[in-house]
Amino acid sequence: MKHFISVDDTNNIDALVQKALAYKANPFADKALGINKRIGCLFLNPSMRTRLSTQIAAQNLGMESIIFNVGSEGWALEFEEEAIMSGTTVEHVKDAAPIFGKYFDILAIRTFPSLKNREDDYSELYIKQFIKYAGIPVVSLESSTLHPLQSLTDIITISEELGKANITIQRPKIVLSWAPHVKPLPQCVANSFSQWINAWGKADFVITHPEDYELSEVFTKGATITHNQDEALKDADFVYVKNWSTFNDYGKIYESDPKWMLTNKKLALTNNAKIMHCLPVRRNVELSDEILDGPNSIVTQEASNRVWAAQAVLSEILKNNG
Ligand code: CP
Repeated sequence: MKHFISVDDTNNIDALVQKALAYKANPFADKALGINKRIGCLFLNPSMRTRLSTQIAAQNLGMESIIFNVGSEGWALEFEEEAIMSGTTVEHVKDAAPIFGKYFDILAIRTFPSLKNREDDYSELYIKQFIKYAGIPVVSLESSTLHPLQSLTDIITISEELGKANITIQRPKIVLSWAPHVKPLPQCVANSFSQWINAWGKADFVITHPEDYELSEVFTKGATITHNQDEALKDADFVYVKNWSTFNDYGKIYESDPKWMLTNKKLALTNNAKIMHCLPVRRNVELSDEILDGPNSIVTQEASNRVWAAQAVLSEILKNNG
């Protein structure tokens, strides 16, 4: 593994999952791997779980981590080639990224989409420019269209649940269910979850959302897609709840009907499904209190697994890039 930007950066999801679970069982097994190595974590946008889990993962591997909130504390970066920088941007990524490449051994970056121009967001210019100019491995901490560390975590969590002694599910039914939200949110988590579950290939995967909330087929191809949430939830083993804004008429809110929020009544349609969400979650908008506080919610377990996903990825990069 050189970079970690999408599922395409691993050729064996299960091996990465097993590596993560081995670190969960023995966090300091590779304590010497990252000695005298440094990871720079650049945040153009806010974060709690990604920031903390990546730092803990690096520390478990003996690495030093440095956080730079470049979005709020750094110079405004320019990403367009040949830009005439007479506006608000102060420093070109072409000048900044090589410096990060000298300061750090691995560069990790969070860059959200603007949700204003789909073509721009889906070009992934920001993270591609860091890869082009930093000259060191780059890890996505969530980019314009994908959130691979979250999706790896989600498969770790599903695998962990399926491995429990009392579980006998051969091929789980996994449902990605759209939920309402008060703000237009990126499609990253839903895109990425779809991409990883499809690539994993070990589940019957169903996506349910209101009309006009189609995601890019680049990520969803292979999944069953329905606007009928009740039908989708029937016999589900895992329900992944997430809001996203519209893809075609980009970045809009068309639907806010609370009937899309998961409740215990809807849970009764499932096969006693485990409920997942990447967090942060708007309680009683996206997910009801009764679900989040109930026995089927595995959101805390899921968030705690972010450490092991990050540790597995950093370990792979350290081993492959000496
Ligand atoms: N799930 C997730 O990425 O959380 P943060 O935005 O808090 O990092």
